Amino acid sequence: MTDRIAKPFLKWAGGKTQLINDIEKALPKDISNDKFTYIEPFVGSGAVLFWMLNNFPNLQKAVINDINADLINTYKTIASRPKELISILEILQNEFHGLEGKDEEKKEYYYSKRELYNTRKEEQSGQAALFIFLNRTCFNGLYRVNRKNEYNVPMGSYKKPTICDKENILAVSQVLQKVEILCGDYEKTLNFADNNTLFYFDPPYKPLSETSSFNSYAKDEFNDAEQIRLRDFCHKLDALNHTWILSNSDVKGKDENDNFFDELYADFKIERVDAKRSINANPEKRGLLKELLITNNNKAVLTI
Ligand SMILES: C[S@@+](CC[C@H](N)C(=O)[O-])C[C@H]1O[C@@H](n2cnc3c(N)ncnc32)[C@H](O)[C@@H]1O
Repeated sequence: MTDRIAKPFLKWAGGKTQLINDIEKALPKDISNDKFTYIEPFVGSGAVLFWMLNNFPNLQKAVINDINADLINTYKTIASRPKELISILEILQNEFHGLEGKDEEKKEYYYSKRELYNTRKEEQSGQAALFIFLNRTCFNGLYRVNRKNEYNVPMGSYKKPTICDKENILAVSQVLQKVEILCGDYEKTLNFADNNTLFYFDPPYKPLSETSSFNSYAKDEFNDAEQIRLRDFCHKLDALNHTWILSNSDVKGKDENDNFFDELYADFKIERVDAKRSINANPEKRGLLKELLITNNNKAVLTI
């Protein structure tokens, strides 16, 4: 048992901690009163998931999904084998910290672990530990793979990064006990909805420019056709009376004639909220953007 509040155990592109206040305003008014199911089909590092689990005791069941099998393996390992995972992470952390000041050896260590990870031959908790190790030590917490699904992010320049946050892993493991963990395409989460379900979608964002394509989390690209397929899925949920909230980039902020999302979601409520993106390494480009928060929840108390 632990008293720690569970928080995301990864750095992840598009982590949603910054948007939580706005998401809170978009929630159905009566959400605190009734038992409900929460479904997050593009979970990533789960910033909204952990916030929901910590703040809504009436949340009866949660379902999370992601197409990234290595990420989902890590969630499953934390849920079922946290202590085994912690003991491997402690070894990795001690070894890595022991190399502080020896740059070449540290680099060699990182790249040997990356190679080992890419063989995908370790057993479940070994792979999960390598996943967390790479996330904590790589450049900017990025997850990027090539066409062969080989992770290819270079080493970051952190001094003694925390690789094993034991208390948090235990806290996360505890809250994951009421979470169903799935791996695959987001559409299959519909099978887990019941008559009081809230979906939160945080898909790979439509890039604002050619160079800002931080959406290569997986082998397959999330292009405009994929954004349209997601809109169709949202229409389907709406017809089935499920409530959903979705975030995406505000392409109109970059080009005022770009009505891509305004047209796609014309039938729903579209809000523009301040975005503080932290994935952009260039501080000049941080903090100026808006993001979209779209919902079919007519009872939402949204403020601009
Ligand atoms: C913007 S990130 C989610 C970030 C998350 N909200 C957070 O706080 O970290 C998008 C996620 O969608 C996943 N993804 C991409 N295509 C998918 C698909 N077709 N079905 C399910 N997940 C997908 C990616 O692996 C990635 O983790």
